[in-house]
Parts: sequence; C-alpha cells; structure tokens
Amino acid sequence: MRREYGAPVSVGGKAEKIKIGLRTESQNEPYYVMIKNRLLQDIPEHMKRMKLGRRYAIITDSEVSELYANNLSRMLNNSGLPTEVFVFEVGEKSKTLAVCEGLMEQMSSKGFGRDSAVIAVGGGVVGDIAGLVSVLFNRGVPYVQVPTTLVAQADSSIGGKVGVNSVHGKNLYGDFKQPKVVYIDPMTLRTLDKEEYAGGLAETVKHAVIKDPKFFDYLENHTEEILRRTDYSLLHLARTNCSIKGSVVEKDPNEKGMRRVLNLGHTVGHAVEKLANFEIIHGFCVAIGTVVALRIANMEIGFPDGDLERVERLLRTFGLPTIVPAGISEDDIIKTTSLDKKAAGGQARYALPTMIGKMAKFGGSYATYVDDGVVRMAIRASR
Ligand code: GLY
Repeated sequence: MRREYGAPVSVGGKAEKIKIGLRTESQNEPYYVMIKNRLLQDIPEHMKRMKLGRRYAIITDSEVSELYANNLSRMLNNSGLPTEVFVFEVGEKSKTLAVCEGLMEQMSSKGFGRDSAVIAVGGGVVGDIAGLVSVLFNRGVPYVQVPTTLVAQADSSIGGKVGVNSVHGKNLYGDFKQPKVVYIDPMTLRTLDKEEYAGGLAETVKHAVIKDPKFFDYLENHTEEILRRTDYSLLHLARTNCSIKGSVVEKDPNEKGMRRVLNLGHTVGHAVEKLANFEIIHGFCVAIGTVVALRIANMEIGFPDGDLERVERLLRTFGLPTIVPAGISEDDIIKTTSLDKKAAGGQARYALPTMIGKMAKFGGSYATYVDDGVVRMAIRASR
C-alpha cells in the first residue's frame, strides 16, 4: 500500500524513516530520510552498513565544524570509517564554483579519489556546495546529507537540488543529484540563532500553505512550543516537512511540473535576496516573497482575504518579516525576477495557492505569468 505523506515507516526508539521513492534517468532507487532526536550518535553504525566508500570527506562551514562536524568525524574514525573534515567560510557568499574547486583540490591533495563519499554537515549552503562537489569530484561520488539548520531539515537536504550562485543569479550552476541518505537530528536546531531558526519556519509555513491545512492549524496552535523548540515540536516539524517535500519531489524530481509548487514565495524572495546582496537571510526573503505571492494570488485567483491574514499573522508570530524592504525598488524586483532561471522568455512565473493547502494549476502547469502591473501592486501593498 502506498504510504500517505505524514505517516512515518517506523516510530519509537528507532529513527523514523521517510522513504523518498524516486525514478529518474540517473537514479532508480529510493532513499530514506532518517529522523530522530539525538540521531547524530547513531550515524557511524548506520554508515558502516551503508558502505558508501572507503574514505569520507565531511564538507562543512566554519561554524558547524566546531559545533558538530569535527565531533562526527571523530565518531566515524573511531568506528573504523576514515574521515577528514573540509571547511569553508560560513555564509551564502561562499556558494561559488571557486569554493567548490578549492575543496576538491584539498580532497585530491589528501589522496581522496573515486572510492570516497561526501558527507554534508550543515545548513543549506553546505548541502548545496557538498552536493555539487559530489557531482564533480572524480566524475561523481556518493553523498549523504546531515542537515543542521531548519531550512536544510525542512527543505534543501531533500530532493537533490545542488549548486552554486553566479553573479547573474542564485543557484545558476548545479544539478539534480539525490543523496544516498539524509540523517536529521532535530536537536541540532537548539544551537541555531533565533533568526536562522525563524528562516526555516518560513519554509515550514510554505509547506503547510502548499499542501496541508491541518499542518497549518498545528503551526498556528503551537507557536509557543515551536518557538521554545520543544523535543516534540522539532520532531513533528521535521517529519511533516520531509513528508510534504518528499511527496512532491517523488512525483517530479527534475522540476518539470508539480515541483514548481515548492517555489511559492521564491520568485520575489530570490530577487530580494540578491538585491539585498545576501545580507538578508534566505528564509526572511522567502517570508517576504510569500506575502507578495499571496497578494498576487488574492488579486488574481481569489486566494481568500482571511487566509492571507492568517499567513501574515503566523509569519509575524514566528519573527519573520512580511514587508518588502524600503531600499529595494519595484523596478529592480521586476528586472531581477525576469533573470531568474525559472523565468521563461524573460518573464517570471509564479506558483500561487487558491487557499491554504491547495496550489493552483494553470492549464497543466503549476506556475503562471503575472502581469507586471499586478506584481507592482502586490509589492506596494507589502511596504
Ligand atoms: N526548494 C525548492 C525545491 O527543492 O524544489
């Protein structure tokens, strides 16, 4: 029987396992997202059974190395899995081909070769860079995701988008490559600063708006526990986010159709992020972009006023911005969205919901062109 999303394969003392069953040209096997509070300590035993390589390259950033990566490396070495840690400077500005090249040169000079596997330990930037390294290094080696931020646990560690930015836009150089396994230890979110955690809540709210009105109710009714990061709420966010995201990418791994729904809030969000020179974190930009998209949906396809108010209120309760920054002009946003890699014929496309929990289909597609005038009105209403 096919698993409904939201239902983990196993619960209890063992990790919950969410199966991502993919069939792509290059990958015909499922992989699992393993979720458990304090899962980090179980990773070496599990990886021994996975037998992904003879040497392991942990790729991480300058913050997560001290927090988790060095420790995981020690545990893996103690379990007989030879591991070294490769570190780059924390931040979105590191998401470049040059940083990937530097990491690969270091790996080569330490004798890493085809028989190695890459382990991404960190947030979305780490996962994107490590994933791209795993595509390029020796024409491809397996990789594993150990996401330690909510953005990564909710979104970027699942679904195989890997890549880096160009001066022309975000994530312009990359690939789709699925990890062999994703290990989520929600307890790692306890060391995240408030803003980074809130950023992940923006992706979480996005998932609820796309597909799950009951999850939206849960978020609204448990804001206090979520903001306190209780054991249960962190676990529940992880399992629901992964199930929603997994259920979408299973159907459309290479973003030919339905996966576009996951771009809700990202068209204007990515533009704001770029125009703010990456000084505003990704999740904050997604929150701003979501509000603009919902206003467009409100004007164009009848997304209800009441739902718009609920989403704005929830985002604000989670400490997220819902206003387009004053220094970023309408003209610049429109121009930047037209350069987005998801634009077609120089015009941006928007994923839009008809109500909380349901995305609109536009003649077989999950994204639509929107008149610049409507986008301008939505931006103005979000000042
Ligand atoms: N973050 C959107 C996607 O993975 O498609």
